[in-house]
Amino acid sequence: MKIEKKLEMLPLNKEIETKRVLKQLARTSRTLAELKGIAKTMPNQNILINAIMINEAKTSSGIENIVTTHDEIYKAMIRPIDTSPAAKEVVDYRSAIWQGYQLIKERQIININTIIKIQEKVEHNQAGIRSVPGTVIKNTQTNEIVYTPPQEKTEILKYMKNLEDYINNDEDMVDPLIKLAIIHYQFESIHPFYDGNGRTGRILNILYLVLKDLIDAPILYLSKYIIRNKIEYYKLFQKTRETGNFEEWIIYMLIGIEEMSEETIGIINKIRDEIINMKHELRNRTKIYSKELLEALFFEFYTKIPYIQKQLDVSDKTAQKYLDILVEQGFLTSEKIGRERIYKNERLFKIIKEADRD
Ligand SMILES: Nc1ncnc2c1ncn2[C@@H]1O[C@H](COP(=O)(O)OP(=O)(O)OP(=O)(O)O)[C@@H](O)[C@H]1O
Ligand SMILES: [Mg+2]
Repeated sequence: MKIEKKLEMLPLNKEIETKRVLKQLARTSRTLAELKGIAKTMPNQNILINAIMINEAKTSSGIENIVTTHDEIYKAMIRPIDTSPAAKEVVDYRSAIWQGYQLIKERQIININTIIKIQEKVEHNQAGIRSVPGTVIKNTQTNEIVYTPPQEKTEILKYMKNLEDYINNDEDMVDPLIKLAIIHYQFESIHPFYDGNGRTGRILNILYLVLKDLIDAPILYLSKYIIRNKIEYYKLFQKTRETGNFEEWIIYMLIGIEEMSEETIGIINKIRDEIINMKHELRNRTKIYSKELLEALFFEFYTKIPYIQKQLDVSDKTAQKYLDILVEQGFLTSEKIGRERIYKNERLFKIIKEADRD
C-alpha cells in the first residue's frame, strides 16, 4: 500500500507563480475582464444571473448523473411539487448559488459557516462537517480507494479554518485566479462533507470570483469545462497530490476560466441581441412597449400576470391585456401549469438551451 502524503496547509510553501502559470494567467485575466465589462452593459444583471445560472445548475448536478431537461427544470421552477426529484435538485442547486451570493454581498467574506450553508442547500440535510470517519474517494469504475481525506472532525476543522484564512486574507499578494485553483484543490482534498463536496466546491469557485471583485455577479461557471475534461480533472487531483507540483493543476483551472469566460461572452451577446430585437419588434408591432415590460420578459424564462402587474404598476386587467397581446403577436407562448397560467419567453429559452449543447 502506498503511504499518502499528508495534505499541506495553505499558503503552499513552494513556488507556484511559474513562468507558464503567469503566461496563462495573463490570457485568463484578459478574457475574464472582458466578460466583466460586457456583463456591465446589460441593463439588468439579474437577467443574466437567472439565465446563465440554470445551465450551470443543470451541468453541475449532471456531474453526479442527475440528468434532467430544461423543460423539466422550467416546470420545477414554477411548480416544484409535481416534478422529478432530478429537476428539483437542479432548482435547489440554483437557490444554493443565490443564497451564497446574497451572503457574500452582505458579509464580504466567505467563512466556514457560509460553506456549510451552501452544502446544506445543495444536499438538503444538516449533516454538516463530517464527524464519523470512513469517507474516502474511490474510483467509481474500479471501486479502488484513490484518496483518503482527513478523517477526524478536529483535523477537518483545522484545515477548514486554514482554508478560510487563505480565502479571506490576501497578504500573500498571489493573484486571486491562482488562489482559486489552489482553494478548489484544497477544498476537495479536505472533502469536509459526507456528500456534495463537488457541487459545493464548484459554487465556492464562483462566489470567490465575486468576493474578489473579478466579476460582479455569479455568471461564470466551470462545471461545463470540468465535465468536458473530467478525466483530466480527476487525474490531476492525484498527480498533484503525488508530485506536490501544482503547475499543471493551476494551468488546467486557468484555461477553464478563460474558455468559460469566452463562452459566457457569447451567451451574453446573444441575449443582448435578442433583447434589442424584441425591443424593436415591440415598438413596431404593438403599442405597449416600455423598458420595464421588456426587462420583465427577460427576467426569467417565464412571467405571470402578477409579475407584470407589479413590475409595471398596472391593474391585473391591464397586465392580462398586455400578455394577451404578447401571445397573439408571438412574443410569448402561454401554458397552464397547475392552476396557473404561465407565459414563456421561448426565444430566451432557446438561447439558453442551445448554449448548453456542446
Ligand atoms: N482524487 C481526488 N482528490 C480530491 N478530490 C477529488 C478527487 N477525485 C474527485 N474529487 C472531488 O470530489 C468530488 C466528488 O465528491 P462528492 O461526491 O462529495 O461531491 P458531489 O457534489 O456529490 O459529487 P459530484 O462532484 O460528482 O457532483 C468531485 O467533484 C471532485 O471535486
Ligand atoms: Mg456525491
